[in-house]
Amino acid sequence: EKGGYDHFMLKEIHEQPQAISDTYRGRLLADKGIIKMGSVDNNIAKFLNAKRIIVVACGTSWHAGLVGEYLLEDLARIPVEVEYASEFRYRNPIINKGDIVIAISQSGETADTLAAIKLAKSKGAFVFGICNVVGSSIARETDSGAYTHAGPEIGVASTKAFTTQITLLALMALKLGNLNGELSNSKFHDYLQKMSMIPGKIEQLLNINSEIEKIAAIYKDAPNCLYLGRGYNFPVALEGALKLKEISYIHAEGYPAAEMKHGPIALIDESMPVVVIATKKGHYDKVVSNIQEIKSRNGKIIAIVTEGDTIVKEIADHVIEIPETEEAFTPLLTTIPLQLLSYHIAVMRGCNVDQPRNLAKSVTVE
Ligand code: F6R
Repeated sequence: EKGGYDHFMLKEIHEQPQAISDTYRGRLLADKGIIKMGSVDNNIAKFLNAKRIIVVACGTSWHAGLVGEYLLEDLARIPVEVEYASEFRYRNPIINKGDIVIAISQSGETADTLAAIKLAKSKGAFVFGICNVVGSSIARETDSGAYTHAGPEIGVASTKAFTTQITLLALMALKLGNLNGELSNSKFHDYLQKMSMIPGKIEQLLNINSEIEKIAAIYKDAPNCLYLGRGYNFPVALEGALKLKEISYIHAEGYPAAEMKHGPIALIDESMPVVVIATKKGHYDKVVSNIQEIKSRNGKIIAIVTEGDTIVKEIADHVIEIPETEEAFTPLLTTIPLQLLSYHIAVMRGCNVDQPRNLAKSVTVE
């Protein structure tokens, strides 16, 4: 049942190339230069006239929503707010006519997300669901939506659900950006080609598993760990930290890299590993200065860099290379080594990777 892997989580990490292809099968028609999404096409006027999109979700799905904010604002120029469903539902939120609410949920059963959807509907919003589990409560409660088609996710820690949610959000952002004139046809076609290459690049990345295992062995006993990223990779830093804390029980925090000097830098000493996402284009020079600041305080750097990087390689303690792609798609690649790092650290610490203590796969109570 685990397909030869020791844990469902490892199996599901390795399924990501297939899962992402399944997400865009029949939707991303790169050669024809079109994105077909029935549920978006059927509601296209609502999407193109939307003054604002509000994303509601919890946990890892909320992190995917944050990546969605960068995608939809950058590529389609639609204002986006991303809300914790649990805060949104109790805040007497302002929902205007013409707002679209996107609810993201792997299980489709998360109580807070479901309640946020009901509230939004009662205020007249159009609610679009991004779910993995077919026929789930959220899939039924939303006005329309799209399935990620990631296949069953058994490990409690969400992996392929996250990357397939991002894939769907990217397809929506590209489609809307092209239709509303923000994204030229040539740029759009270029993105489609690059998107179709993502599964192959993840396949390539998965080959560095043993390299990551070596890094895991060095830091498995760290009491704390910091994750930093900027722009598109800020949410990936949050997700990397969440993955580490939930399965290895190491205290970890994710931060936007530039916020470091507003507090967390005080934590840095020789016993503090800092995972930094420092891919090319994504405010690279600024992230390099953050890395220098950490090194000068003797922190240990594990850097995620773009293939062929030379500058960070000189200063970081460890580098993990990801293949080149569009900046907007880098979260789909930078996430992979962070999932593997948490997985190996948790295994080395003897933790129950697939069923971490105190956690449930679907949180059906608030
Ligand atoms: C983290 C994790 C949780 C879920 C959250 C939302 O790995 O699994 O944070 O992401 O409980 O669940 P869904 O997506 O089912 O609504």
